[in-house]
Amino acid sequence: MCGIIGYVGFRKASTVLIDCLKRLDYRGYDSAGVAIIDKKMKVYKEVGEIANVEKTIPKLDGTTGIGHTRWATHGKVNKENAHPHVSCNKKIALIHNGIIENYKKLREELEKNGHIFTSQTDTETIVHLIEQEYKGNLEDAVCSVLKKLKGSYALVVICEDEPGKIVGARKESPLVIGVGDNENFLASDIPALLKYTNRVMYLDDGEVCIITKDKVTVFDSNKKQIKKKENIIDWTIKDAEKSGFPHFMLKEIYDQPDTIHQALRGRISEINRSIEFPIRVEKLLGNGIDSIHIVACGTSYYSGLVGKYLIEQLTDIPVIVELASEYRFFGIKNKSALVIAITQSGETADTLAALRQAENSGCKTLVITNMIGSTATRISDGFLLTQSGPEIGVAATKTFTAQIVVLFLIALKLGLLRRTLGSDEAYHHIIGLKEIPQQIRQVLEKNNDILDVAKKISHAQSVFFIGRGINYPLSLEGALKLKEISYVHAEGFAAGELKHGPFALLTKETPVVAIVTHDATYEKILTNIGEVKARGSPVIAIADEQDTDIINQADFVLSFPSNNDLSSCLSITVILQLLAYHVANLRKCSIDKPRNLAKSVTVE
Ligand code: M6R
Repeated sequence: MCGIIGYVGFRKASTVLIDCLKRLDYRGYDSAGVAIIDKKMKVYKEVGEIANVEKTIPKLDGTTGIGHTRWATHGKVNKENAHPHVSCNKKIALIHNGIIENYKKLREELEKNGHIFTSQTDTETIVHLIEQEYKGNLEDAVCSVLKKLKGSYALVVICEDEPGKIVGARKESPLVIGVGDNENFLASDIPALLKYTNRVMYLDDGEVCIITKDKVTVFDSNKKQIKKKENIIDWTIKDAEKSGFPHFMLKEIYDQPDTIHQALRGRISEINRSIEFPIRVEKLLGNGIDSIHIVACGTSYYSGLVGKYLIEQLTDIPVIVELASEYRFFGIKNKSALVIAITQSGETADTLAALRQAENSGCKTLVITNMIGSTATRISDGFLLTQSGPEIGVAATKTFTAQIVVLFLIALKLGLLRRTLGSDEAYHHIIGLKEIPQQIRQVLEKNNDILDVAKKISHAQSVFFIGRGINYPLSLEGALKLKEISYVHAEGFAAGELKHGPFALLTKETPVVAIVTHDATYEKILTNIGEVKARGSPVIAIADEQDTDIINQADFVLSFPSNNDLSSCLSITVILQLLAYHVANLRKCSIDKPRNLAKSVTVE
């Protein structure tokens, strides 16, 4: 989870580190800290926002340093547990993301050898081990310590006796090298670097790097030097800024007409009425698949549930959707299943573990992600990018809709390949998808109507979301969005399930958001709305704009443009996102950084 940055170059490290950390705070915001070599090792850390540390840093000329923003795993949120951690002699400083599983045993041995610990973290163990091994060469000490560590890490270390050098290492936690002119960087995420460079190298598991201001050296655990490819990232710093919006989440909701267009870009041939993917992906999809297993967490899991619906509607392939954290232990080992992992970050530990599990079972794997170069893209047989640009708000929005678009394209491709879908029907869906950016613009124009409804429900203690078919996973996502950013208890249900238990929770104070579409489920969901109304609960219907009857059934109606296609799930999603956003804003919540959460969950 934690955010990591290392800088060596010609600028004042304190300025660069704070600047980059502010772009990383979605990774964790329990505490933050920096260590800078300014002749001596200088360390500053504080609980809470990065601004709290910034205030404490005096004028420093040092041009080598490391910075960290923490999401606590081991040890409370306090100043002692904030990174960087330092050696007993205060000459070595280290930051870490991951979990060292054998830290207790290592700590006991170190304490017997006289090392004094000042925190409860697993991380501090590593810096004392490095101090113990250090004989004048930092990378040598790091390499011998790595052999003793069990668990996951992205770690970055500096030593006062070797100013102008940073050593980094990774295993199962993300770390990229940013390549500049006369300066170099290490970071957990690319958006942190965009102000300074768009040239990156991806470290792989087991690799160690040394960066100085004019050189990058990478080697494997046997100290064999490795030649790394430099990649150019086509994101700009503007993509990672709020652009006048009060929150990243709102900006990212408003980005969706464009990001959906980007997710479709280069993948549809209207002339041939076909879907085109890179050759590796085409091979995976054409490969005699007898079933698909989708694995993911959180919002990505819900897009997987939407994907199941789409693939099963348009093809003859059965789809199982599993939470990655469960699949990795209990997943069905069927070699001829194609395993599709969905992960915005490409770094979610549980999803990566499920991918590895699938690979070990002999399954082919396909990843849908927003992060080029992420671990998920490198351990799978093929990947499709959502092409959404950086998503900074902790709540996933534009990447959720882009994931659905990619899944829709996969469903169309498979349907055409297996002839379960005719060319005309495929064309109807393609046109439907192409109209979505414009339809989302229409939804965004109704923002004030959504705000008005948000005002009506913002004091509720609990909100239900109901839907049937493809709208059921949308209900789950609507509820997740609301609870994670507004802290209002919310649950999503398949509408038919209410009477099997959840009805017991309904009161006149429980608003129920019902997603109503003109499909085979229409009459049934109207019946469900009637049942809810009979118990006095207020109903907010999200319905097709041509549905003129719904106003007689519901207390409030939020409408989306008709398109008679499954792709209307995308417009519906935008309404749910704005509803959650406004409720959270009215409740004055920390929208982009909800309590206890982090954008990228790199621990299991
Ligand atoms: O990066 P991933 O898509 O793998 O992340 C999975 C979940 O942690 C994520 O979708 C989370 O549920 C969202 N931030 C919720 O909005």
